[in-house]
Amino acid sequence: MVFYFTATGNRLYIAKRLEERPLSIPQIIHRENLEFSASSIGIVAPVYGHEVFPHG
Ligand SMILES: Cc1cc2nc3c(=O)[nH]c(=O)nc-3n(C[C@H](O)[C@H](O)[C@H](O)COP(=O)(O)O)c2cc1C
Repeated sequence: MVFYFTATGNRLYIAKRLEERPLSIPQIIHRENLEFSASSIGIVAPVYGHEVFPHG
């Protein structure tokens, strides 16, 4: 299971290389149930100013 965030599409390209149908974080964030289970879970997100984006 791969989650991704992308601004310009680069990280979507990477996420799709890891898994055929990665999950967009902005699209799933409003789901009522945010519990996920899988044998492996990955997060693909851009680095802006040396920090993973988005961050708190
Ligand atoms: C304002 C800005 C700051 C960035 N800072 C970094 C950085 O500190 N380190 C890095 O490796 N890449 C940095 N990048 C490159 C982005 O992480 C890279 O373009 C990434 O592919 C963007 O992902 P996205 O196209 O999915 O949004 C930066 C890009 C921008 C526009």
